[in-house]
Amino acid sequence: MTAQLIDGVALARLWRERVRERTVALQTRGIQPGLAVILVGDHPASQVYVRNKVKACQEVGFHSVLETHPAHLSEDALLARVRALNADPTIHGILVQLPLPPHIDAQRVIETIAPEKDVDGFHVANAGALMVGQPGFWPCTPYGCMKMLEHIGFDPCGKHAVVIGRSNIVGKPMALMLLHAHATVTICHSATVDLAQHTRQADVIVVAVGKRGVLTADMVKPGAVVIDVGMNRDEAGKLCGDVDFEGVRQVAGWITPVPGGVGPMTITMLLVNTLQAAERVAT
Ligand code: GUN
Repeated sequence: MTAQLIDGVALARLWRERVRERTVALQTRGIQPGLAVILVGDHPASQVYVRNKVKACQEVGFHSVLETHPAHLSEDALLARVRALNADPTIHGILVQLPLPPHIDAQRVIETIAPEKDVDGFHVANAGALMVGQPGFWPCTPYGCMKMLEHIGFDPCGKHAVVIGRSNIVGKPMALMLLHAHATVTICHSATVDLAQHTRQADVIVVAVGKRGVLTADMVKPGAVVIDVGMNRDEAGKLCGDVDFEGVRQVAGWITPVPGGVGPMTITMLLVNTLQAAERVAT
């Protein structure tokens, strides 16, 4: 069996077209969705990510602001910028790119973003809303993964989902979203004993570790859906995920490629969240 590819680029295009249409509708009511992205320091990967986010905003007709600050920016100065954006009516979403330099308390910065502008879904108010099933912003990467499952007609209800990774950004919210969709969820992490024993039981595996080769073909049940959140480089400098793609695609039913899988959907869900933030202001 060779797995079918879940094309994140095509699905993202479809969603961005919908976002663009809803943006036009909002603009007729005098509102243009606005996203502010703050980058502190010169982390090379972060620079690429924020540029892609701002470009995506422009493509769907959003107002977007990119603020770049030197790595030595003080925490107080950053908090002051976040508070100013909280009060700016042209800005509906605020994103502070992570990681932040070590002298800045990232959690403190996140908690300073107004929850109704926290389009990353990282504020405790939004994390708590996800936990109890109340409306709020969902973190973009797991949200995008859920949309990919929906797109291929995979209903998690009654299925066994294994999430590898327990970060606040991906692993934990991913597990909660799958749980809300009535999956039986196992969260595996660096202290898990015998990872393969868990993954072999899974109907869907989401891998979000940040390390190449975490999931190999012998760890996958034939026909399972495999979602690769990883973004790494191989020894030749080529972009690759956490999954041994060539091996696992021989066993899985569906698989996301890297690049062209989860990445484009993450940015797309950021657009969806920002649009929703603007629509809330409009109602
Ligand atoms: N760094 C890596 N991924 C993300 C993300 O989704 N949001 C923010 N703010 N920073 C990140």
